[in-house]
Amino acid sequence: MGWIVVGYLSGSWLAALSVCRWAGVGDPRRHGSFNPGFSNVLRLYGPRLATATLLLDALKSMPAVLGAKLMSCPVWLQGLVGLAVLLGHSFPLWHGFRGGKAVASAFGVLLVLVPSVALLSAVLWSLLAWRLRAAALASLMSALIAPLACGWLAPDYVMVVGGFSLLVLARHGLNIRRLRRGEEPPLRGS
Ligand code: G3P
Repeated sequence: MGWIVVGYLSGSWLAALSVCRWAGVGDPRRHGSFNPGFSNVLRLYGPRLATATLLLDALKSMPAVLGAKLMSCPVWLQGLVGLAVLLGHSFPLWHGFRGGKAVASAFGVLLVLVPSVALLSAVLWSLLAWRLRAAALASLMSALIAPLACGWLAPDYVMVVGGFSLLVLARHGLNIRRLRRGEEPPLRGS
């Protein structure tokens, strides 16, 4: 239970907001896609701040899950801690419960839980975002493929990663509507 609370609270810290504040640039929730995440920071302020956002959001997502893993909690419980991190990022206590889409956070959680699937998802996301020039489409496709990529592991991992994917997909409702209308804002430079 303790790790679930730690997970939610640490997930509630949104790296994009701090990075943009430290850099003295505008609040990413007011521009671009209005999402406080690395894609929107890349779109608005370029790769340096976007990389910092991605790394910090991934890093903040790791300690709670790592704690549960080191205490040999069962996979489903480690998954619940991971879900708490993603819920924290999506509905942050510190920011009026209005957060991001949990893609970088899911990457951090997966790095602890299933590193091979995290790395595969990162490669896949980068290729798709580069090829399709739409971050959200890359995130949606990576979220669909990640649970399938756990197929060779115990069923618990498929369930846990499937749960993460459902949350990530649900957080992209606006992007899906924009993609269907052809109004999705491109990534910077595309
Ligand atoms: O990283 C989140 C991504 O999937 C969508 O972000 O800013 O294009 O709505 P954005």
